[in-house]
Amino acid sequence: MTRTIPSPNLWNHPEVYAQENAAQDVDGAIWQALREEAPWTGADVLDVGCGDGFHLPVFAREAASVTGVEPHPPLVRRARRRGLRVLEAGAEALPLPDASVDLVHARTAYFFGPGCEPGLVEAQRVLRPGGAIAIVDLDATVDPYGSWMRTDIPHYDPVRAERFFERLGFTTRRIATRWEFPDRATRDAVLRIEFSPAVADRAIAATPGLTLPVGYRLHVRRRPDPRRPDPRRRDLSPESAARLRR
Ligand SMILES: C[S@@+](CC[C@H](N)C(=O)[O-])C[C@H]1O[C@@H](n2cnc3c(N)ncnc32)[C@H](O)[C@@H]1O
Repeated sequence: MTRTIPSPNLWNHPEVYAQENAAQDVDGAIWQALREEAPWTGADVLDVGCGDGFHLPVFAREAASVTGVEPHPPLVRRARRRGLRVLEAGAEALPLPDASVDLVHARTAYFFGPGCEPGLVEAQRVLRPGGAIAIVDLDATVDPYGSWMRTDIPHYDPVRAERFFERLGFTTRRIATRWEFPDRATRDAVLRIEFSPAVADRAIAATPGLTLPVGYRLHVRRRPDPRRPDPRRRDLSPESAARLRR
């Protein structure tokens, strides 16, 4: 069953959110890190929790195919009006066959730490052997943006989230990015859809210019490919495993 996680920023303010997406990562640091960790040239790409599909055209420039999955119907319609291939579904029940994609990407969507296990199982199912799941999320340990997030979402523990992914075999890469707004009105509108009124006031007061440093985390894990064993992975010999079990 789909556990749709509310996204009031995007659901209620899709136009401002589009401006936010355009302001994010203006130097392309996330794309560069993704390209190094999980390249998508010639790949079949799936973007989970794709919203109105903002990131799909970037993948489409080099991918063999790009599909988005999004559970919120108005966003699915919005994406389709832009000619994008977006299926209405959640991460927990992907409407794709087994072993049918090379890259599962999710950006600030669903995979926030403990609780996202059903989506991880589904991602593993639809990945071909050797394919990668790449999860991009805000790094709430990095201030000032992180301190605003932690004030508004006190129950969210970013260190716990990071450890969760690492325990499950994901790598972690920190990415420093720069958001750049075209003008103050856009900057303020974006900060107001991201934070409560009091925290947005604080964020606006602390952001005199049009640039904001924002940290992200990228977690990547590959589905093992039995035909190409990873030379860095050292499996225990049957004898050592038996000794450990004793
Ligand atoms: C903050 S938005 C990010 C959208 C998009 N990835 C982007 O970067 O523009 C989070 C998205 O996750 C979607 N979402 C919520 N619950 C989900 C679930 N169970 N599976 C997949 N996506 C989900 C929301 O509807 C929303 O579109």
